[in-house]
Amino acid sequence: MVSLTIERLSKRFGGVQALRGVDLSIESGEVFSIVGPSGSGKTTLLRCIAGLETPEQGAIVVGETPVFDSRKGINVPPEKRDMGFVPQTWALWPHMRVRDNIAFGLKIKRVDEGEINRRIREVSEVLGISDLLDRWPWQLSGGQQQRVAVARALVLEPKIILLDEPLSNLDAALREEARIWLRDLMKRLKITSLYVTHDLSEALAISDRLAVIIDGEIKKVGSPREIYENMDNPDVAQLFRFNVVEGKITGVDGNRVAVEIGDGSAICRSSSPDKTTQGSRAYIIFSPEKVKIGSGGISGVVKSSIYLGSSYEHIIDIGAGKPIKARSRTPLTTERIKLDIEECIATPA
Ligand SMILES: Nc1ncnc2c1ncn2[C@@H]1O[C@H](COP(=O)(O)OP(=O)(O)OP(=O)(O)O)[C@@H](O)[C@H]1O
Ligand SMILES: [Mg+2]
Repeated sequence: MVSLTIERLSKRFGGVQALRGVDLSIESGEVFSIVGPSGSGKTTLLRCIAGLETPEQGAIVVGETPVFDSRKGINVPPEKRDMGFVPQTWALWPHMRVRDNIAFGLKIKRVDEGEINRRIREVSEVLGISDLLDRWPWQLSGGQQQRVAVARALVLEPKIILLDEPLSNLDAALREEARIWLRDLMKRLKITSLYVTHDLSEALAISDRLAVIIDGEIKKVGSPREIYENMDNPDVAQLFRFNVVEGKITGVDGNRVAVEIGDGSAICRSSSPDKTTQGSRAYIIFSPEKVKIGSGGISGVVKSSIYLGSSYEHIIDIGAGKPIKARSRTPLTTERIKLDIEECIATPA
């Protein structure tokens, strides 16, 4: 097992600054996700780590060994970095059977036939594709092709695996199944894994820790629970579909603050008590689950409702600049409602 450290990594494409001084430290054996909206720099970051792009600045260190360092002029070629890469738009070679697709990288490395067969047997067993080895790619389902694409990277026995939205071309049910076997597999093989996705629930489900990247900058790093339960960055909160509204601080008691919101108020935890002072403006961040509909000091008008299966989601105007999202188990019967915000974080505006 090996750790992966990324220091002040910057990459520009013409006028686009794709990465802005990215710092990350991934522990050995960790499943670490990078989450961010489209165009935020996720693929660029993976390609830089794999050695397929050359950053202008920064360093990439595997264990104790730098594979890239702009100041020391180190730039180890991709094939010597000992990393497996499953790119965003992977495709199996259509003119090769599954077995040859998996063997291809090993043949290029001139690994001997016996060893190739041993590794293919092993990796196919862990991935549950042993009985597919003699098929052509077009004879496989999407989920099976996905497993072969992962097998192709794993058979090289890399110390680090980089996966770029590997499940994006699977349907919803297969995706949910795949995130379980993928996590299980990476844990069992004790490979340090860097997993890119824009699917937030996937990132929460699959990772030990995750980093949120927005516009080439890492905004937040932590375990899924640390991130979800300390949503104190307005940009990250919006990405995770939390409510973010502006309000005024009307009272302070240690790290608890009272905020004026709509025609009522809420008690929030302050993310920086020295800045959320009496009378200051703050962002109030809260998840749709923490809105209690039915009673409370805030008035709202229901603008729309959709059925989600286990609950209803409503868009409610509380006069806070923009409408908020809230959930309820049963449909709402009136347009005008009262509500309370049970848990929120206030962060300086
Ligand atoms: N080869 C390139 N030439 C010019 N611009 C590029 C190139 N590759 C990426 N970019 C730009 O860099 C930014 C980051 O792109 P990147 O592919 O890393 O985003 P991403 O987070 O992977 O997005 P997605 O979720 O859509 O895959 C984007 O603005 C993109 O247009
Ligand atoms: Mg991408």
